[in-house]
Amino acid sequence: MSANIPAHTASHTRADATDVILTGDRPTGPLHLGHYAGSLRSRLTLQGQCAQTLLIADLQALTDSTGRAAHVARHVPEVAIDYIAVGIDPALTTIAVQSRLAALSELTVLYMNLVTIARLERNPTVKAEIELRGFERDIPAGFLCYPVSQAADITGFRATLVPVGDDQLPMIEQTNEIVRRVNRLANQTILPECRALLSNTPRLPGVDGRKASKSLGNAIPLNATTDDIHRLVQAMYTDPGHVRASDPGRVEGNVVFAYLDAFDPDSTAVQSLKERYRAGGLGDAALKRRLEDVLEALIAPIRTRRAELERDRAYVMDVLRTGSERANVTTEAVLGDVRGAFALDA
Ligand code: TRP
Repeated sequence: MSANIPAHTASHTRADATDVILTGDRPTGPLHLGHYAGSLRSRLTLQGQCAQTLLIADLQALTDSTGRAAHVARHVPEVAIDYIAVGIDPALTTIAVQSRLAALSELTVLYMNLVTIARLERNPTVKAEIELRGFERDIPAGFLCYPVSQAADITGFRATLVPVGDDQLPMIEQTNEIVRRVNRLANQTILPECRALLSNTPRLPGVDGRKASKSLGNAIPLNATTDDIHRLVQAMYTDPGHVRASDPGRVEGNVVFAYLDAFDPDSTAVQSLKERYRAGGLGDAALKRRLEDVLEALIAPIRTRRAELERDRAYVMDVLRTGSERANVTTEAVLGDVRGAFALDA
């Protein structure tokens, strides 16, 4: 999907203390282990090292979930709870709600003049999503333009580093195109270019081996109960040719190993399990039992923290209010500069 993306945006760069980090999630459902491995984990590492903002992208969620507006609204605090439950500290990381930052919408309108429809239609992620959602010729204009709104999100914070999955690389590339055009209009560098921070773990598949997605129900949510974990691990795709424990099994494409690689803290043990599995003599049942233990150890403290936060909604709402207020100051200042580039009153 990201094959035609210039290499420099995909560089596995590291953060330095001067980096400004912005990333976001659409509030369309509970966050899952794919989010954890793909980007929450790096956000946790970066918190405190650099300025960091997490944006709950409710306006972006509406671009393809207009009929589910109440569902999106309900998930705004849920995503905040997920963040805090995994260890995001609102004192170190700003958590803001996209729709409360009016400057981002105005930036989007201005940037819309710097992007062609043809360019939007070429965005490989948007292309794939149009197909997946079956829009065909009836593409909502807001959906086609969401990369522009995402460019507003990123530049609205003058972000330099965006921790995302590789499906988001086309957004980074389009953001930098807009940044260069704005700077050219302004005749000076008012916005910095940004780079993606990709996680070291390859994209985590869904339990059935397909792309993990909330709508397919094949992802393991961060609020999974012990029973959910059991049910989802038991349903995991392994190697259909591995019938008896004594048969040699395939590790590649085996979802259980993908999850062990991502989450088992003992990578040496995982390597030797792979060898035994390949040679024959290691059954799926034993392997899945280990993964259940690993996932329970990861999720249990998140679940406990989540339950506490569920009981303290006022605190969660307060985090969103103060975070959005802080973010408003930043984004309004950027908007002032960008309005100047378009010869509008500051
Ligand atoms: N498009 C991202 C996703 O679907 C969410 C998102 C919205 C985002 N705004 C962002 C990611 C800004 C990074 C930066 O996951």
